[in-house]
Amino acid sequence: MERFIITGGHPLLGEAEVSGAKNAILPILAASLLCEEECFFEKIPLLEDVFVMCDVLRHYGVKIRWQGSSLHIDPRQLENKDAPEFLMKKLRASNLILGPLLSRFSSACLPYPGGCAIGSRPMNYHMSALTQLGAEICDFGSCIRAKASCLHGTEICLDFPSVGATENIMTASVKACGDTVIRNAAREPEVVDLADFLNKMGARVTGAGSDTIRVQGVNRLKGAEHKVIPDRIEAGTLMIAAAITGGDVLLKGLDPQSSSAVIAKLRSSGVIVKEDSAGVRVIAKKRPRATDIRTMPYPGFPTDMQPQFMAYAVTACGTSVIAENIFENRFKHADEMRRMGADIKIIGEAAVVRGKENITGAQVEATDLRAGAALVLMGLYARGETTVDNVFYIDRGYQRLENSLAALGADIVRRSYDASGWPRQAAQSPCS
Ligand code: UD1
Repeated sequence: MERFIITGGHPLLGEAEVSGAKNAILPILAASLLCEEECFFEKIPLLEDVFVMCDVLRHYGVKIRWQGSSLHIDPRQLENKDAPEFLMKKLRASNLILGPLLSRFSSACLPYPGGCAIGSRPMNYHMSALTQLGAEICDFGSCIRAKASCLHGTEICLDFPSVGATENIMTASVKACGDTVIRNAAREPEVVDLADFLNKMGARVTGAGSDTIRVQGVNRLKGAEHKVIPDRIEAGTLMIAAAITGGDVLLKGLDPQSSSAVIAKLRSSGVIVKEDSAGVRVIAKKRPRATDIRTMPYPGFPTDMQPQFMAYAVTACGTSVIAENIFENRFKHADEMRRMGADIKIIGEAAVVRGKENITGAQVEATDLRAGAALVLMGLYARGETTVDNVFYIDRGYQRLENSLAALGADIVRRSYDASGWPRQAAQSPCS
């Protein structure tokens, strides 16, 4: 087990390169199952979730070769098998292989995926959409079996712009007979990146980034090369790290538009955010003003930035109201933040956060990926030492977060500990 030990109070200063987006590469890796030729990917973030997705692909016979942060994928020896339950349960995004497998083999069996415990996260939109494309779906509660001798294009209107359902429909329909129209589609930049990759493989996908995506079925897909877009959630986390510590950080390579909701909220809290061709520079000179947020599908404020923004609101002048509209159980970090002196009241789907200047370091526990990142942000601000346990959650979505923060001047180290909480020898970073 590993933990971060953070001594707060150091303003973050300097430049940081944003990693490739976790939520873009996961569906793209799944989509590589669709073709019978090699694919090559650049700017892959070296994260636990990516390694698990690679293990899932290996299970199906895909050959995978790493070259630094680039990846060769060779799906020529693909075999249809039941999915490996222990791997599928390790990440929610394992559900994204359903569309590609169904398209490639006409049948698929998928245990219910795992991932962060932030809500019930059902699969009903995915199953209903695949049924409309002509699949026969049996939901056994613990797993889903899908069969389709021929998928045929149709018009699907999603009840909610689910990111995963939109992506599974896209991958299931690229080789279907006829045209598919997805209405109320997710508009996230990661959906656009998936469409770009599919089109490089020879698919005909238009409208990604709008609420109507059209997929014209093609017979065959070829291998392709693709560079993953920058991770807007990692970037947002680093922006708040700069803001919460009164720092000045330039995030290189970030498309500011993909982070516009977070940038707008930082500006309304009093932070200077400059956007130019080099990236996004965040300059914080004083304590932030309280700011309300409501999480929404893109281009609204991302739920994956809600815990980090709560950490920021904890330190602000005044009271902020944070409404969580995407996941029903995404305020677990509030309990841990209270251990550090935060004043947070949860009222249904809203958190009322009364900002305080004095936040004190404490021993806290990451309860999920973004909650863990939010506690690290609190530690960067707090007086004294903060210990964040369960770093494995943070490693699922950040490539050595401690290295990115330490390079900007944060006092943060990773330490191993045993089950009784005693320290072990310092951990060696495989990625540093
Ligand atoms: C993706 C992201 C995740 C992000 C989320 C919302 C990836 C790998 N993960 O997750 O980081 O937090 O989008 O931006 O890209 N829902 C249903 N039935 C379904 C599918 C979803 O009720 O069949 C509900 C979910 O419970 C949730 C909401 O729809 O309340 C949004 O979920 P969805 O957009 O599907 O999230 P994911 O694709 O799982």
